Amino acid sequence: MKKPSKRYTLHQGDALSILRNLPSASVDAVITDPPYCSGSQTMAGRKRPTGAKYIGTDTKRQLPDFEGDFRDQRGFLAWASQWMTECHRVTKPGGLLLSFIDWRMLPTITDAVQVAGWVWQGIVVWDKTAGCRPQRGRFRAQSEYVVWASRGPLHTSVHPVVLPGVFQESPRPKDKLHQVGKPLRLMESLVEIVPPGGTVLDPFMGSATTGVASLRSGKQFIGAELSPGYYDLASTRLAAEE
Ligand SMILES: C[S@@+](CC[C@H](N)C(=O)[O-])C[C@H]1O[C@@H](n2cnc3c(N)ncnc32)[C@H](O)[C@@H]1O
Repeated sequence: MKKPSKRYTLHQGDALSILRNLPSASVDAVITDPPYCSGSQTMAGRKRPTGAKYIGTDTKRQLPDFEGDFRDQRGFLAWASQWMTECHRVTKPGGLLLSFIDWRMLPTITDAVQVAGWVWQGIVVWDKTAGCRPQRGRFRAQSEYVVWASRGPLHTSVHPVVLPGVFQESPRPKDKLHQVGKPLRLMESLVEIVPPGGTVLDPFMGSATTGVASLRSGKQFIGAELSPGYYDLASTRLAAEE
């Protein structure tokens, strides 16, 4: 299923199959937030429903579970290497990959970035601030990461923007449309790395927060989502931006 439009195109289905049908060197950046497949040290723990893994028992508002969050480290490495290889082909030379991840899966995803042929450029920190739930006897799990990379050398003269390496933004559960949806303001800051009028691809768009941020900053957007429910939500959300 495909909904064409002037400023965005959405696909419902498996990201890898969809990516394989996109033309080479056609997008300026892949900005994405894949299922982290995190949440436990044991395989049984990882296979729990996403709501049980990522949502606190004190959270009253229940949002639907999402797809694809079950792989072990080796499975994740092989799978992420595959979709990142396709993303690399689809991205223009000098274009960018930004992928969210948490601390547990950080080493695995940075391996995948390099297996897929990207030039790994660094890690941006999303500081979720002290608003995050404290945990007794532990450091607060206050940060997530954005691994970023380029297809070949960076073309810094094309869009010589200067951006921070740490973004402070508290996740506001009340504003979330997806169990692990990212704050819109955070995404609006991150898409600034893309040249004006560029095209952003998110193969794991969820509720399409990246899509909203891209459209609001005058970019084009291509998104994919496996879950029909979240695909419908993303479609409605982006239609409201037109
Ligand atoms: C971490 S969430 C993205 C949340 C998004 N950033 C937001 O703000 O709403 C990852 C999404 O990828 C989807 N997904 C998982 N496996 C997929 C696959 N193979 N193809 C396409 N989408 C997939 C999940 O259903 C989930 O909605």
